[in-house]
Amino acid sequence: MKDWKNQLKMNIKNHKTKLLKKKAVNLIPAFTQLLSKNPNRFDYNVWPTYYIRAKGVFITDNDNNKFLDMSIASIGSVLTEYADKDIDGAVIKSIQNGVSSSLINVNEVKLAEKLCKMHKWSDQIRFCKSGGEAMSIAVRIARASSGKDKVLFSGYHGWHDWYMSANLKNNNNLNNHLFNNINPLGVPKVLKNTAIPFRFYDNKQLINLIKKYKNKIAAIIVEPIRNDEPNKIALENIYKIAKKNNIILIFDEISSGFRICNGGSHLKLKVNPDIAVFGKGLGNGYPIAAILGRKEIMKICDKIFISSTNWMEATGYTAALSTIKKFEKRKLYKKLIANGKKVKKIWLDVAKKYNVKINTYGIDPLAKFDFKYSKTKNLIAKKILISTMIENKILASNIYYAMSAHTDNHFKKFSKALELAFLRISKKIN
Ligand SMILES: Cc1ncc(COP(=O)(O)O)c(C=O)c1O
Repeated sequence: MKDWKNQLKMNIKNHKTKLLKKKAVNLIPAFTQLLSKNPNRFDYNVWPTYYIRAKGVFITDNDNNKFLDMSIASIGSVLTEYADKDIDGAVIKSIQNGVSSSLINVNEVKLAEKLCKMHKWSDQIRFCKSGGEAMSIAVRIARASSGKDKVLFSGYHGWHDWYMSANLKNNNNLNNHLFNNINPLGVPKVLKNTAIPFRFYDNKQLINLIKKYKNKIAAIIVEPIRNDEPNKIALENIYKIAKKNNIILIFDEISSGFRICNGGSHLKLKVNPDIAVFGKGLGNGYPIAAILGRKEIMKICDKIFISSTNWMEATGYTAALSTIKKFEKRKLYKKLIANGKKVKKIWLDVAKKYNVKINTYGIDPLAKFDFKYSKTKNLIAKKILISTMIENKILASNIYYAMSAHTDNHFKKFSKALELAFLRISKKIN
């Protein structure tokens, strides 16, 4: 077997990409706008990084290499496929009719009506463009409506001050929710102790925090599902704790929404929050996010100031209406679940065949695995995996965010390349 690095050099052109990366390093601090698309998250030297075309489940990079994408599906913001004809068709029409004007686009009200009808417990809704921004709005609404300042949360909910303030007290506070030891530089120190993390499903810890901060808590924020198997009972208990203590319950459905049913995952789990927040997949890649909630809470928006010019552009509303229509018509969440299950099975089967130690986790449409060796060996294994897949013209790492357009042919190609990757990993590591 030839060395995997040499093979890579032979197969993939990357001259233009290298130049662009050199420019980006100087021009754009932190390299790009989303941490999860920084090539460092994969392998800086081999990850293709820039695309010029994305269509179906294929991406053409800046050096004209065409890859099958079995990776992060635009970090979970694309549910069907890239350049989806139906959704793009609707958006192109709306572009031709003007994406912006001095009046409000009709699709804002149509989308409001549609989402509230799908989530029958909700009465009112606000819109913006991205997930973290939407969570910031939800927290503002909860604080304004309750007259209280503190929020208890579990999981990742965006980059904004309210969330990052959790690390003012201790740089470790976000370790199990985002990543280790982030310095909250730039976040006003007066926000210390206003956002307090708790371990998901650790309801004992949650109750203790509520006792400690009696009558000071505006909201409890969780993702209904993510890395663990759905746990209806634990979620019901969080609901009961919130109700008993008169605390607003916020479900962050930015990543979980539309993956296991049409709409929020809480519909499937049959536990309703006071506010639910959507982003990512809602627009199948177009920018749109939604904060929906009960009227008695949402009506505070009449008295406070939450307002922005670009929230009004029409493509996001149109894309969301078109995405929901397609999703409902074809029950596409079933395909996302099935595809996630298939990839998990391929990972496990191939790992077993080559005696590579891994464990899989995450709900099926947001599937992940970890190598189970030392930290150094895990990094080597991940590098070999990514490079071998790229050599075979596939974008893949240890995360698979499902797209409904993946077919058995794609899984076959993926499985064949994974065999080579895991064989190499086994030879190098075992
Ligand atoms: C659960 C959850 N909340 C919030 C966010 C932030 O969304 P955005 O990146 O659109 O700001 C993310 C993004 O990964 C997320 O997964």
